[in-house]
Amino acid sequence: MSTASDQRTIAILNGPNLNLLGTRQPEIYGSESLDDIDRMCRKHAESLGFSTRFQQTNSEGELVSMVQDARACSAVLINAAGYTHTSVALLDALLTVEAPVIEVHLSSPHTRESFRHKSVIAPACNGVIAGFGSLSYRLGLDAAVALVDANGVNA
Ligand code: DQA
Repeated sequence: MSTASDQRTIAILNGPNLNLLGTRQPEIYGSESLDDIDRMCRKHAESLGFSTRFQQTNSEGELVSMVQDARACSAVLINAAGYTHTSVALLDALLTVEAPVIEVHLSSPHTRESFRHKSVIAPACNGVIAGFGSLSYRLGLDAAVALVDANGVNA
């Protein structure tokens, strides 16, 4: 059930290995830490009149639970990391979300190994923003807010 505290809140969910950002393959994922991205997102969302719920897990089941808990939020941004390409359970959870869902990636999976070209979760997402480093999250927030405002959902 939607609570007052979930309205005008955007859930930003992060999957496995993103806790290592800053030290994990910086040539691909950049030098910013996940905390840096959390701070940037909070600041940007606040400037747009929203708060954020920023979470990360390495576990597929926990990510599914985070999606379920985010159903009362105004929108969901998700970087499912490796589970993007494998998780039917995550797709099923995202299909239950009525609010806008934006898939984000730091890198551009389509220009990398072929196993990254397929997003299993894409059918549950309004769109995908990839390849802009941490800017993907900021652009994802802009897209989410535009969709929330257009839908008049939890606005
Ligand atoms: C990623 C891309 C995925 O292919 C990869 O498994 C990740 C990070 C990205 O943000 O670029 O862990 O989602």
